[in-house]
Amino acid sequence: MKKILIISCLWCCIALFTGYATTVTQDTPLNITPTPKSLVQKSGTFAITPKTVFVTGKTQRDELQKIAGYFQTKIQHATGYDLAIKNSGSSNCISLQIDRSLKVGDEGYQLSVTSKRVSVKAKTPQGLFYGMQSVMQLLPPQIESEQPVEGIDWVMPCVEISDEPAYGYRGMMLDVCRHFHDVEFVKKQLDIMAMFKMNRFHWHLTDDQLWTIEIKKYPRLAQVGSVRRNADGSIHRGFYTQEQIKEVVAYAADRFITVIPEIELPGHALAALTAYPEYSCTGGPFELRNKWSIEENVYCAGNDKTFEFLEDIINEVIPLFPGKYFHIGGDECPKKRWDACPKCQQRIKDENLKDSHELQSYFIHRIEKIILAHGKSMIGWDEILEGGLAPSATVMSWRGEEGGITAASMGHDVIMTPSKWLYVDAGQGAVEAEPIAIKFAVMLDKIYNYDPSSEKIPENLRHHVLGAQCNMWTEYAVTPEYTEYLLYPRMLALAELDWTPKTKKDYNSFARRLDSQLVRLDMHHINYHIPMPEGPMANRIAYIDNTTLTFHNSRNYPMVYTIDGNEPNASSTKYETPLSFDHDATVKIATLLPSGKLSPTRTIEVVKENLMPATDKATQPGIEVRRTEGNLYFVKDVEGAYWSDPEVVKDFDFKPNIDDKGAYCYTGYFEVPADGIYYFSSEMDELQIDGRVVISNDGKLIRHSHTRNSIALQKGKHAFRLLMINNNIGGYLRTWNNKGFIMATEGSELKLPDIHTLSH
Ligand code: ACM
Ligand code: ZN
Repeated sequence: MKKILIISCLWCCIALFTGYATTVTQDTPLNITPTPKSLVQKSGTFAITPKTVFVTGKTQRDELQKIAGYFQTKIQHATGYDLAIKNSGSSNCISLQIDRSLKVGDEGYQLSVTSKRVSVKAKTPQGLFYGMQSVMQLLPPQIESEQPVEGIDWVMPCVEISDEPAYGYRGMMLDVCRHFHDVEFVKKQLDIMAMFKMNRFHWHLTDDQLWTIEIKKYPRLAQVGSVRRNADGSIHRGFYTQEQIKEVVAYAADRFITVIPEIELPGHALAALTAYPEYSCTGGPFELRNKWSIEENVYCAGNDKTFEFLEDIINEVIPLFPGKYFHIGGDECPKKRWDACPKCQQRIKDENLKDSHELQSYFIHRIEKIILAHGKSMIGWDEILEGGLAPSATVMSWRGEEGGITAASMGHDVIMTPSKWLYVDAGQGAVEAEPIAIKFAVMLDKIYNYDPSSEKIPENLRHHVLGAQCNMWTEYAVTPEYTEYLLYPRMLALAELDWTPKTKKDYNSFARRLDSQLVRLDMHHINYHIPMPEGPMANRIAYIDNTTLTFHNSRNYPMVYTIDGNEPNASSTKYETPLSFDHDATVKIATLLPSGKLSPTRTIEVVKENLMPATDKATQPGIEVRRTEGNLYFVKDVEGAYWSDPEVVKDFDFKPNIDDKGAYCYTGYFEVPADGIYYFSSEMDELQIDGRVVISNDGKLIRHSHTRNSIALQKGKHAFRLLMINNNIGGYLRTWNNKGFIMATEGSELKLPDIHTLSH
């Protein structure tokens, strides 16, 4: 009861803000996402009442009753109405009917809503399911609530819809190896995929960092391969039992989603090789990889026992997944071990192969035969083109679209998932405003506007493009909440680009409908991204006399702020014009959605500073670097360290050996051309300027220049001390980061200091 109350109250607040009127009229704008192929809004409305019934036709009655039951349960949760399911009825009903003569594809449907009845017709149960998802989306968004919501009229506008998808493959991939995501999480995402008519869940189950599926014949895969010791000593673990896999596959099937397992080979296999090192080239021993990027140890291609091992695994995995496809990975397989392995070299000779690239192709061909013997089709990442494509393979084009285009030109089917557009592990805004991600500014409209069959693909090959998929890699998605933050709402853009005909796509319409769809996601407790207030380059803004902060956000929503230290709420002061300060202040600002929901708060400290005096000390060109040894992790670990004699280097382009434990300290001077405020960032552990810590990344996982600061500097030379500790924090080695520090005046791009201004 308490929960009902909370949801009702929350909804009242939301409704107040939004104009999500609880009364629907024929003029209510429609929010169906993805946009249907053909939709005509009619006058009048249909109301769901406690007396409304589902009517299922006679054809495939059991399946229809199952679909009716699925939506009956959902409607009951939100409305409290227990709608009956009947065999006949003509008014106040939702009728589901199979009609094989319909002029839509197998996944398509026709939906007619009149003031008397809702009629959904399709050629298949799947089409009816999608028709019902559209019915749900014609209702107020609270229809997705898991608890009864009071005070809503469950009314939908009258429409005539004829709909079918542009593409048959509408997918999402989830990596559960970098960070494990449990069954409940997976099911939650399947619910959302189904709402938006997506039909393929690609489950990336094995990798260097974790093996996540129980294999009964090789118990060590789950026992050993599912437990990773991170560099900080913490343990990350997780695998699915075969019973859990079956449970997820059945749950997906109830939502017309096919689950595609991915068992990676010949590379990305270190978790398996840690459990069974005999299938590697060197024999091990290994540990699960506790850093990201690409692993050199891969399955040995010269050992027939490797193929027996993989065949046994495939034989166990295939029966768990009734769908047509089996994904074998195939990406990012370094050839270093094969080049040095006598068995692999012997294989190259025996099979008359040119080199280890052809050995990769040999590997994939051999695996393909196993998959074909089960009557399944093989998918691989676009590297499977290397050394000759396996005859039946479907190619998942990720490095760009070229792999897909090449494969299509060879007559192969392709799934488009180019990383530039469809990798949702990228951030959705500016680096200084967003949490960590592999890269930044892959915005909603960028995904939305992706075209899987653009003119880059010759028209006669476009039929080979099965569809597109967004990929959710989880190196930086360490919590389920953050995975959702990255996935949503971009997955909805993917759903629309896969379903809606190109000619009907319209980003502005999508963005408007999204305001309602986000409320539906709220009902499912999805932690979706809300554009952050952007503008200031740092969260600490120094000023000399005064300063002005200008904000915007990527979807032009209103923003609200406080300067009294309190967290902003929906009724805080609206940001309308740039904020000027001639005194110190703390600005807390957030983006406000039409639903009344706020983004995370961005806090900006505005601080008066005096110019740091420059030095007129005589200096020489170049900077100094010193080294200290030891197993160092935090800044405190280098306190009192014995530093080597300095070496003079011309800049920060200094590449230590990544396995070489220790720390490096750069010291010297840089110059600024005028008195003023300068912005700094660094991906290293600590930057001091004129003896003051300006950037501290101590113990933090840093992938990009998130940490920013600004300081007031007098024209001339200033001392710096930059510390880089050779550590692995959260799977990312500090030595993989960009070296040095970057700086800029306000509004210009942060760059490495001009090499000619560096001295010691
Ligand atoms: C991939 O992103 N390595 C398929
Ligand atoms: Zn080998």
